[in-house]
Amino acid sequence: MMNNPPVVSTAAPVVVRALTRQSVPYTPIWLMRQAGRYLPEYRSLRAKAGNFLSMCQDPDIACEITLQPLRRFALDAAIIFTDILVVPDAMGCPVEFSEGQGPCFNQPIQTLADIKQLRGDTALDHLNYVFEAIQQVRVALPAQQALIGFAGSPWTLAAYMIEGSGSKDFLVARSWIYKNPSMLHQLLARLTQVIIEYLNQQIISGADVIMLFDTWGGLLSSEQYQLISLAYMRQIIAGLRRQQADRYVPVIVFTKHGGQWLNAIATTGCDAISLDWTTDVATARSMVGSRVALQGHLDPATLLGTRQALEVAVRQVLADYGDGSGHVFNLGHGIDRHTSVEQVQYLIELVKDHSRKYHLDEIDARS
Ligand code: CP3
Repeated sequence: MMNNPPVVSTAAPVVVRALTRQSVPYTPIWLMRQAGRYLPEYRSLRAKAGNFLSMCQDPDIACEITLQPLRRFALDAAIIFTDILVVPDAMGCPVEFSEGQGPCFNQPIQTLADIKQLRGDTALDHLNYVFEAIQQVRVALPAQQALIGFAGSPWTLAAYMIEGSGSKDFLVARSWIYKNPSMLHQLLARLTQVIIEYLNQQIISGADVIMLFDTWGGLLSSEQYQLISLAYMRQIIAGLRRQQADRYVPVIVFTKHGGQWLNAIATTGCDAISLDWTTDVATARSMVGSRVALQGHLDPATLLGTRQALEVAVRQVLADYGDGSGHVFNLGHGIDRHTSVEQVQYLIELVKDHSRKYHLDEIDARS
């Protein structure tokens, strides 16, 4: 299936243009988890607020944290400061983030009654703080910088809700595939409906791009990946109102450790695929051709290494993609909390300096 790229205004943010494979003067960049604990200004706000979830639930604070990295660095996009797990919370499965422990659900989903009790249509009433934060950020952000909205994939959210916490292999959640398949699918279907409405409301509130985080899709077998994760992401993408009157809102899919399934992911109707650090950009491009744009891949560990090694890695990613639009520079997963601000600064300079030569034809074509 060939997707026809939508026509996007030359005034659209550079990231939106790159995600829809329109001409751009350089490769735009943003970073997963660009707002967070590696930033001293985040740590100081966090110390005052005390609790991660209450920061997400206060639109003024969420807006401020979203903008923090953009004040420091020449990033091309902001990502709204919230978490994928606010959706289960709003559905009535409360989440807690305790210091150093990661997320925790005290009442994990165990029975069909638990699933039936989850809020559907009314869940969105409990997520107004996200929409308000998006509105505030969009007003504060220059037009050339995109605002990225997001949600977890149904499978990734279900994995946390069933397991009750983070896990290396989510064995309890995966056992449902073979023990309670119909219950699992009911939970996934319910999540899918809420996520569609949630993301459409993010678009209405001002999100310029939508990203689906399928962090735990890579734990599934190839067959189960299609049935449990991809099928529901496909439904979500079909349900999004991407073409607005004045703008087109591209969708990015990120399945961590999903490198072997890029062809399948490209058939979901998404505009772009985000790559983790195990799948290089050249291999990905040869698999998906020009059907979708690509994002990501740089190993977050390069930000913990030497400047020389970082430069080599950045040049490699740019050369692997090669000439032309359709690439957004990013990491293969979130920035580690021990990353230095100087190294992030250097990364962004490197991408700006070294990417222009891959876009010369596009600039000529426009002038
Ligand atoms: O990227 C950004 O800057 C936007 C904000 C963002 C957060 N979480 C903030 C956050 C995004 C996009 C997420 C997504 C998210 N959350 C995912 C999918 C992406 C991924 O990382 O795979 C997942 C699986 C979660 C669930 C989650 N939230 C975990 C496992 C943790 C604990 C891990 C950790 O680093 O402590 C969180 C907490 C969290 N979400 C923090 C931030 C900034 C750290 C909170 C703090 O203690 O200050």
